[in-house]
Amino acid sequence: MKTKVPFFDLAVQFKSIEEEVKSALDEVFRTQQFILGSKVQALEETIARYCGTRSAIGVASGSDALLLSLMALGVGRGDEVLLPPFTFFATAGSVSRLGAIPVFVDINPETYNIDPSKSAEKISSKTRAIIPVHLFGQCADMNPLLKIAKEKNLFLIEDAAQALGAEYKPIAGEDGRRAGQMGDLGCFSFYPTKNLGAFGDAGMVVTDNPALSEKVRLLRAHGSQPKYFHKWIGINSRLDTVQAAILLVKFKYLEKWTGERQRKAERYRLLFRELLSSVEGIRLPTVQYQNRHIFHQYVIRVRERDRLRKFLAEEGIGTDIYYPLPLHLQECYAPLGYRRGDLPHSEKASEEVLALPIYPELTEDQQIAVVDRIKAFYRK
Ligand SMILES: Cc1ncc(COP(=O)(O)O)c(C=O)c1O
Repeated sequence: MKTKVPFFDLAVQFKSIEEEVKSALDEVFRTQQFILGSKVQALEETIARYCGTRSAIGVASGSDALLLSLMALGVGRGDEVLLPPFTFFATAGSVSRLGAIPVFVDINPETYNIDPSKSAEKISSKTRAIIPVHLFGQCADMNPLLKIAKEKNLFLIEDAAQALGAEYKPIAGEDGRRAGQMGDLGCFSFYPTKNLGAFGDAGMVVTDNPALSEKVRLLRAHGSQPKYFHKWIGINSRLDTVQAAILLVKFKYLEKWTGERQRKAERYRLLFRELLSSVEGIRLPTVQYQNRHIFHQYVIRVRERDRLRKFLAEEGIGTDIYYPLPLHLQECYAPLGYRRGDLPHSEKASEEVLALPIYPELTEDQQIAVVDRIKAFYRK
């Protein structure tokens, strides 16, 4: 019988921590405290320490982390914000929801992250911020972006939703900097399939700036201080105690799980070696020398992507496509006037990327099955 490989499998992981999670939940149920509270505070302190920032603010989702960061910076109607179009919708959606305009900058085709060399030319007198996305768990090339932001007096928000624990270390011998720590604010998602996943929606903003930290903290609860007196117009984006309790349990395993993901990535690299020498047009993920890649996703590139994906599905191998249509070509952004061909690397990536199963519990047999089936496709 052929080995089936689901694209991800949260149940196996849950089994390994079931008792701990249940006892953490019991504690929450006993206290009947469901919103914010000591568990959320403990998680905030844990994530701040892990990211090397002064503070962290728990919010309801990664999307809200972006929205609240932009709100805290005062980004609003008519402002422009630079960001890559090859990302999850929330990166741009948060900008649009404030009446600001996303200005799309093409990606580096090797890393799928925003290309700093194409950023400067997109800056106008209305530009207020840049949002690099650390896609798939690898940091964008931050130093040139930080330089541009400084020179042009722009804010920098890291969309680190996929990159908790990723590091950027462009100069050997110096300490690496953690994702989220480098910009004015960093945004994380704890969506269930993320490397650190909640049992529902959850997110976090990290920052070193005390004034921004305070502002995000107020904005996540309707801007009130003291209660029922409103300094700013915020939203309801408080982090649930239940999610924080679960995340605190899972956090203890994050480094171990990240190590497992990195080992799976290395194993894929070895398993693919033979195929790469015989088939043209397959590319494995590029890890730039300066990066600690945490392999939230393992994304290969192939020319006949859709046919391969269909074949793999028939063979019981789960895959996914991040992302099938870059944001500048989405229907909702038609009024911005972009055309196919405007951002060619993002467009080409959308046609060729294929995410393979990668999670800490993925077995060697399963990885062999994935690569074997891909080999079988090319033998056909
Ligand atoms: C790059 C990126 N940005 C933002 C988000 C939004 O996070 P959430 O789903 O927690 O709202 C995600 C999550 O899917 C993401 O991958």
